[in-house]
Formats: sequence, C-alpha cells, structure tokens
Amino acid sequence: MSNMFIEDILGGDRVPRYLQSSIDEVLNRSDIVDIVSSYVTLKRNGSDYVGLCPFHREKTPSFHISSDKQLYYCFGCGSGGNIIDFIGKIENLDFIDTIKFLAERAGITLEEEVYSPEIQARHDKRETILKMNKLAAKRFVANLSLDDAKGAREYAFSRGLNRDTIRAFGIGFARDSWSDLVDYLKENGFRNDDIVEAGLAAKNEKGHIYDKFRNRLMFPIIDVRGNVIAFSGRALDDSPAKYMNSPETPVFHKGNNIFALNIAKQHSASDGLILVEGNMDAVSLHAFGFPNAVAGLGTALTDQQAQLLKRYSPLVYICYDNDEAGAKACEKAIDILSSAGIKLKVLSYKDAKDPDEYLKKKGAESFKKVISSALSATEYKILNIRKKYNLVETADKVEFINAAAEILATNPNAVEREIYIKRIASETDISTDSITAQVNRVIYDKNRKTYKKAERVVQSTKPASYQRRGDATPTASYKSERMLLNVMFFNLSAYKLAKSQITATELSDESHRQLFTEIVKFKETNESADAGAFLVSIPEVLKPTAAQILYKEYVGDAQATVTDNIEKIKKQNFNETINRLAKEGKVDEINELIKAKHMGGVIK
Ligand code: CTP
Ligand code: MN
Repeated sequence: MSNMFIEDILGGDRVPRYLQSSIDEVLNRSDIVDIVSSYVTLKRNGSDYVGLCPFHREKTPSFHISSDKQLYYCFGCGSGGNIIDFIGKIENLDFIDTIKFLAERAGITLEEEVYSPEIQARHDKRETILKMNKLAAKRFVANLSLDDAKGAREYAFSRGLNRDTIRAFGIGFARDSWSDLVDYLKENGFRNDDIVEAGLAAKNEKGHIYDKFRNRLMFPIIDVRGNVIAFSGRALDDSPAKYMNSPETPVFHKGNNIFALNIAKQHSASDGLILVEGNMDAVSLHAFGFPNAVAGLGTALTDQQAQLLKRYSPLVYICYDNDEAGAKACEKAIDILSSAGIKLKVLSYKDAKDPDEYLKKKGAESFKKVISSALSATEYKILNIRKKYNLVETADKVEFINAAAEILATNPNAVEREIYIKRIASETDISTDSITAQVNRVIYDKNRKTYKKAERVVQSTKPASYQRRGDATPTASYKSERMLLNVMFFNLSAYKLAKSQITATELSDESHRQLFTEIVKFKETNESADAGAFLVSIPEVLKPTAAQILYKEYVGDAQATVTDNIEKIKKQNFNETINRLAKEGKVDEINELIKAKHMGGVIK
C-alpha cells in the first residue's frame, strides 16, 4: 500500500475567496453564447440560441440560451442556470474552480478578499488545522504498511475492506503509541496548542500532550472539497469504545457533515444517495459496488445534513440498521428529509442486522433488488405499523385503519394516497370509501388552520391582469374559478371530474378561460402537477396569472372543491343569463330555463 493515493482524494491546500467585484467582472466578460458554443453547436432562434443539450441524450434540440438574460435552460432535462452553472456542470468543477476557469479564459486576474485581523486569524487557524489533518491522514495511511500494523491490516481485511476501498477512503492506522503522531506533527512545525485544538492530541495536567488516537483503524472524514476535517478511529476489536471521533473543532461540526459524500457526490446525480448509519456500512457498500453510499457520522440526521444531501442528490435511499433503534432513526430521518423537500425512499431488508452484514451474506445482486424494491415513506410507515396488528380481528382492523389514516394524511400526493387506500382496502376488506373518508377526516382535522390560510391565499389575490388594466372588480365567479383551476392542476381526479362537468367557455374571466384550456392541453401529455413545467409551456402573458393561481397548492378535499365551485360558477352564470334575458324582456325563455333547472337539467 503506497501512500501516494491519498493525494488523489484530498483537495488543494486553501480555498481562496475572491472579491465579488472580481467575480462580477468575470461574469461580465464571459458571454454565455460565446462560451457555450465551444461545447454545443448553437442555432439562432430570435433572441434565443438553440442546440442539443450536452447534459442529456437527445435528437431534437431542447437546449435554449437566452442571450439577453445570459441564462440557459433545457426543456428536456430541466437543467438550467448561468454560465457558472454551465461550466461547473460540464467541466465538473466547483464554484471556485469554475471562476478560475472563466477568469483564465477571459484573461482576468482575480483579486482576493482582504479581511479584518480577527477574521484573518480565524482563517489562518482553520488553514493550519486543515494542513495538519492532511498531514496526519497521510501519516496514518503510511502507518498501515508498517510491521506493527499487521493486526490493523488483518482486521481491515476481515471486515471485507479490500485494497481499492482502503485507498479510495484513505483508511489508515494510528499506531499503538502515545507520541507517534504528535512527534511527527511537531517535526513538521506544528505547535502543541494547535495540535490539541485540531483534536489530534490531548493535554495532561503537566501540560504534556499525547496522541489521542491509538491502535485504531483510522477513517479520515473528508468534506466535499477534499479537506480532511476530522477522523473516526475504529477499535480493532469489539471493545466498548468502538469508535473514537474527533471532537468539534474550528473545521469540524459533526451535524454539518456526511461521511463519504466526497466520493458519493460523483455518483449521486444519476443514482441517488444511499444513507446508512455506520461508517462501516458505507465503506462496505462502496466495496460491493455502491459508491453512492454515505453515512451520517453517528448523529441523528440534522437539518443541515439534509440540506447537504439535497445539494448533491435528487433522491435519498434511507438504509438504516434493522433493529428498533434503526427503525426509530429511520422515521426521524424521513421527517427531516421530507421537510427539507428531498425525495426519499426506504430500503427494507431481511436476515441481516445492517447493510454491511446483508452484503456479506447475500451479495451485491441481492442488494440491487433491495434498491429496486425500495419503499416510499408512506409504504414503509404503513408496513411498520401493520406488524403490530392481527388483521383478522375486527378491533385490530379498526385500529390499523385509524393508524394508517394518520400516516396517509401526511402524504400530500392524492394519487399515491389513493393507491395505498386501495391496497389497504383489499387487505382489510373494508371499502375504499370508508378508508378515504377516514383519511380525509384526519387531513381536515390536522390542517384546518392551514387550509383556511391556503384558501385565503388562493382566493384573495387579484389577478395581475386586473391590476394592470386597473379594472374595478373581478367577476363574481372569480374566486371560484381560481380555486377550480388550482385543484384541477394539482389533483388528477379533480381534473378529470372538472373536465367532465365544465368547459372553458363557462368561465367568466378571459385569462381563466385560457388557463383552463392550457391546463387541459398540458394534462393531455403530462399527468404530473409540475407547476414549473406548466409555466414554461404557456404563453408569456398568462404566466403571471398562472403563477399566482398555482403559487400554493390547495390541499383540501379536491373533489368537493371541484363540485362546490363548479356549482357556484354555474349558478352565477345562470343568474346572469336570467338578468340579461329579463333586461331583454324574454320572459318565455326565462321560464324555460327555470323549468329546466327544477327538473334537474344541466344548465349551460
Ligand atoms: N458511533 C460512534 N461511537 C460509538 C458507536 C458508534 O461514534 N461508540 C458512530 C459511528 O460514526 C458509527 C455510527 O455511529 O459509524 C453507527 O454505529 P454502528 O452501527 O455501531 O457502527 P458501524 O460503523 O456499523 O461499525 P461496526 O460495523 O464496526 O460495528
Ligand atoms: Mn452498524
């Protein structure tokens, strides 16, 4: 094992901070059309340029550049941004390196920010610790080849870590010594106090410092920029102090970091991330060909960690230990990830206590099946509570359905809710109607306040077109039409119901009529409720109104909303027709209409 490999996984020494004015200058001198055309063949199309998207395979061009706005957007894969986003993505560079790249191209010398002495001192401290950590990491790697690391090597191999994995992670060995690392760091010019502050040594009463990590297999914790920010040392046996971790230091905050994300981030865009509890589980997954695995550093998942995961991945698979603690932590992680707005799935597996053991028992192919049969959060939660009930008992059935309704009520997707309701119905032999009613009751009770608020948001705003034209009042059906368009867009069954009962011509407001037609057009090819996708598909003039109406999803009972509002719209139309006819003195026609209405005829 050579120690040259650890260089490959570590970042540069220092991340510069450039002056905003420098960055602005780079942006001003980097024309997006000019630069992108060295990657993509572009054709002019009005003020836009169009070409084949370099970020996904396509035969017809859907990659657009707005020369005015200096932005790009791909209608095919949805990627978009400015020139920094483009270069970052296509050259696989982080922000700083992208700026450097563009500066060089434009022949600009970047100027760095100048800091106050306090801030400068803090930066220097962080830099010192990062440098020291890097040196320590290399030392640990080198140690693993020494004679006295035989036990550590054997332990590593016994845990299934092969040479490639050891290299990829920069795994090393802290010797069974009180001063091996301290001496080495001192030789390299580091001061006692800094070594202690970095968490690599401790100080005794006499002020003497000694190595903190001793006789342990060392896992460097490396951030997404390649900085060694901390260490996790695994005991070589099953001693109770299984792991020793770096304390919080100026460069390490446990709750802000994710283990192995430095490697996994290269794979996460396509495959999502697999989030496990143990470092060992993550390492093991990598060894078995799942380089998109990461671990949470032994803390309960934090909001900051969720944000970090979100930045690197569109999807997270939670794969926690197979015990009660793991299940609890999983429920918690589901809540944290979903409130961060991350798409998540849960991996459920049998016959092993954790993913590490699972792989060793059943192999990678079997784990792939676990991934392909990943559960949705709702499915997982329902599966978990079902274990508690015996569904042949009536009382158990009732309790199970009540508990399941509580879970289903938290799922904002009506289509998904319906799928699970059907499943539960067939399992319990209770009608879907009763289960739906129960779910809706829970939803309503839980969110009474939120609904009232959402309802107000949807109903209250005047349309932009009215504001612009300065019209006195919106039409009488104005609010109803907005509610209707909102639920139609977001809820598929509401959409179908609405479409079968009302037409665009029955709406009173011109932009509402147009939006109705646009929604129908959109839904013909697209069952999703992606407001962003819809917005790009409609005429420019409709966008402000559409954005306003779809700004917030109304989450009440969609079917009832459709029925109620259509009734209001039709009633209003009816009254207006009667008034008009009355003004025109057409009494016979009025009588006809009223008769038809009382006979239950459809009023058009
Ligand atoms: N952990 C810790 N200190 C401990 C135990 C655990 O810091 N004494 C943290 C570590 O980050 C560990 C994680 O919690 O990776 C999950 O714990 P566990 O599942 O026990 O560890 P594994 O990494 O799975 O280790 P092993 O398979 O060797 O038991
Ligand atoms: Mn474990």
